[in-house]
Amino acid sequence: MDKLGLKSKRAVLIVFYIALPLLLFGAVMYQNSNLGLFEGISKTKGLEGGEAQNNRASTFTASGSGAKNDSFDDFKNLSSQHMTDAKNESFSGLKNYSSEPATTTITSTIPNEKLLDGLLASGFDEKSCLSRYQSYLYRKASPHKPSAYLISKLRNYEDLHRKCGPRTEYYNRTMRRIIRDRHINVKTTCKYIIWTAANGLGNRIVSMSAAFLYAVLTDRVLLVEFWHDMTDLFCEPFLNSSWEVPKSFHSLGHHKKIETYESLLKNDRGNTSRESWPSILHLNLQHGSNDHDKLFHCDHSQALLHKIPALILRTDQYFVPSLFMIPSFKQELNKMFPEKDTVLHHLGHYLFHPSNEAWGLITRFYQAYLAKADEKIGIQVRVLSTEESRTRNLMKEVLDCTLKNKLLPELDTKKSVDSSLKNKTLKSVLVASLIPDYAEYLRTMYWMKPTVTGEIIGVYQPSHEGEQKSGDNKHNMKAWAEIYLLSLCDTLVTSSQSTFGYVAQSLGGLKPWILYKSLGEKDPPLCQRAFSMEPCFHFPPKYDCTAKTKLDIGSVFPSMRFCEDINTGLKLVDNLNSSQL
Ligand SMILES: *[C@@H]1O[C@H](CO)[C@@H](O)[C@H](O)[C@H]1NC(C)=O
Ligand SMILES: *[C@@H]1O[C@H](CO)[C@@H](O)[C@H](O)[C@H]1NC(C)=O
Ligand SMILES: *[C@@H]1O[C@H](CO)[C@@H](O)[C@H](O)[C@H]1NC(C)=O
Ligand SMILES: *[C@@H]1O[C@H](CO)[C@@H](O)[C@H](O)[C@H]1NC(C)=O
Ligand SMILES: *[C@@H]1O[C@H](CO)[C@@H](O)[C@H](O)[C@H]1NC(C)=O
Ligand SMILES: *[C@@H]1O[C@H](CO)[C@@H](O)[C@H](O)[C@H]1NC(C)=O
Ligand SMILES: *[C@@H]1O[C@H](CO)[C@@H](O)[C@H](O)[C@H]1NC(C)=O
Ligand SMILES: *[C@@H]1O[C@H](CO)[C@@H](O)[C@H](O)[C@H]1NC(C)=O
Ligand SMILES: *[C@@H]1O[C@H](CO)[C@@H](O)[C@H](O)[C@H]1NC(C)=O
Repeated sequence: MDKLGLKSKRAVLIVFYIALPLLLFGAVMYQNSNLGLFEGISKTKGLEGGEAQNNRASTFTASGSGAKNDSFDDFKNLSSQHMTDAKNESFSGLKNYSSEPATTTITSTIPNEKLLDGLLASGFDEKSCLSRYQSYLYRKASPHKPSAYLISKLRNYEDLHRKCGPRTEYYNRTMRRIIRDRHINVKTTCKYIIWTAANGLGNRIVSMSAAFLYAVLTDRVLLVEFWHDMTDLFCEPFLNSSWEVPKSFHSLGHHKKIETYESLLKNDRGNTSRESWPSILHLNLQHGSNDHDKLFHCDHSQALLHKIPALILRTDQYFVPSLFMIPSFKQELNKMFPEKDTVLHHLGHYLFHPSNEAWGLITRFYQAYLAKADEKIGIQVRVLSTEESRTRNLMKEVLDCTLKNKLLPELDTKKSVDSSLKNKTLKSVLVASLIPDYAEYLRTMYWMKPTVTGEIIGVYQPSHEGEQKSGDNKHNMKAWAEIYLLSLCDTLVTSSQSTFGYVAQSLGGLKPWILYKSLGEKDPPLCQRAFSMEPCFHFPPKYDCTAKTKLDIGSVFPSMRFCEDINTGLKLVDNLNSSQL
């Protein structure tokens, strides 16, 4: 490295740490709401559904003006220059299509690839969310197709959401009952799961995805509570409805003592003769919230939860593997996901469409730095603990990993003149990190000397925010853009245990190279190829449903393995050979 004219002390500078802001939000839930209790709910005879929807539609369009046109025009030009032949065609289609007013769109005019092989519903207003129908132009077509069964489940879910979602008569009626009656003894037509935020953006995306899958499996409507730091990151995923919980819901905590899942389990285990159930329940699946195993992965618990109209879910975990453990869900999940390791790949593409503002950040960066590259390599460098920052030399690990595995070329230290000008291969490296040092190092390195292959290496980093700022909307906007940009790369190198990296790999359908080191051991740092593109569930259940014996993961659940980067975590793997799960 000294040959490159770089001081070795730089390697020391590049370590940093971030404490996990685990319980940061714990205290602020449901506070400070001055709204009246379900204000307006009593005025059920107000607007007709249609009128309410029109209001929605117009607020959507108005809120997203500004940068919209710009990015779209840029994009057109980009496409004609850099897209492959195959994309050429669909691009022309897009041009034609988008010049029509959104209201005239009909299913048959939208190419299937634009709807991600049927994953997305047609009929959305395109201008209010450009990314929804443009994302396919930026990605290689996924080799993983959503199953017909998954698609039908999604269409059914959308119907349910339209019927029971905010502002509907069903919503008003059910919520009124939930407020009024502490206990409930009949089945309500509509049931809800209200997701609340915990931890950083990566955790929120993986936990929302798990909550959505749970909602689909249990015929609940997923509502999300976004704080100011998450507004305007995503488009509305559900046609003619909304996934944001209405403001009036926030005041609930003030007026009503809400029972918890733990107390329900404690009081009611085995008592099937119970006649009434809490109308609403706190379901806390956040790790660290309780030491004992919560038995959420057991049919018995699910039977209890089934009777409760509204669940307020709090978790930062990707608890999808738990759902695969629940016997009554198994068959459905098998049909929905014949390829087990594609859960977040599909659900992520379905749920998380960057807002126009985020899409502007993504597409402008992409066009400027990545579009022309023959190959795009994403490197995410992130340290989770002080201990790690002290004991690791991450720059060295990144170099060892990328050079040894030939993701990046070696330097030709003998020559200072490029003789292999004939090789015009351009590799773009996208670095995502809170500090600029890694990217700067790589950039300088490939500037000072030619590569042995003659490949040209460009190194780019969208932002370096210094520290993770949960609770900051602009910070989250950049983080979301970076996650998405990483997912557009051909190859990924990620840091261990990072949900940020997990989301990027799942969206991109990529099995990343993971940088990790077991703490306290003398082993050299490792760089290992992930065996699945799914996220790791960091704190899976440990006990079987009698809570007596430890779960024997390998033999009971052949589609799960312990994670590469945290050996107590669990991860879904594709096991085409397995018919049990
Ligand atoms: C934005 O696009 C619309 C239609 O595509 C057009 O009518 C409008 O003039 C454009 N606005 C700007 C500022 O370019
Ligand atoms: C697109 O880019 C080309 C140059 O590559 C330029 O000549 C042309 O004017 C651009 N078109 C638009 C619509 O910006
Ligand atoms: C792609 O688009 C360019 C410019 O619009 C056109 O010249 C070319 O023929 C197209 N290629 C295909 C395969 O359609
Ligand atoms: C675009 O629309 C025009 C006129 O409506 C039509 O002639 C042309 O074939 C369309 N192009 C594509 C690629 O669909
Ligand atoms: C539901 O209540 C809201 C007020 O909270 C009201 O605006 C809306 O019109 C009601 N919807 C129906 C269908 O009653
Ligand atoms: C969504 O709303 C629009 C406008 O109100 C309507 O034309 C369309 O049929 C609706 N789509 C569905 C699937 O309900
Ligand atoms: C079971 O539930 C019923 C009805 O709520 C209650 O009367 C009874 O005391 C409960 N039994 C036990 C053992 O908790
Ligand atoms: C150009 O770079 C590519 C990519 O690494 C490599 O496979 C190829 O051998 C190189 N070509 C020449 C002529 O060096
Ligand atoms: C699939 O299962 C069969 C029999 O159970 C076994 O012989 C075969 O090796 C397995 N294939 C793979 C790819 O695991």
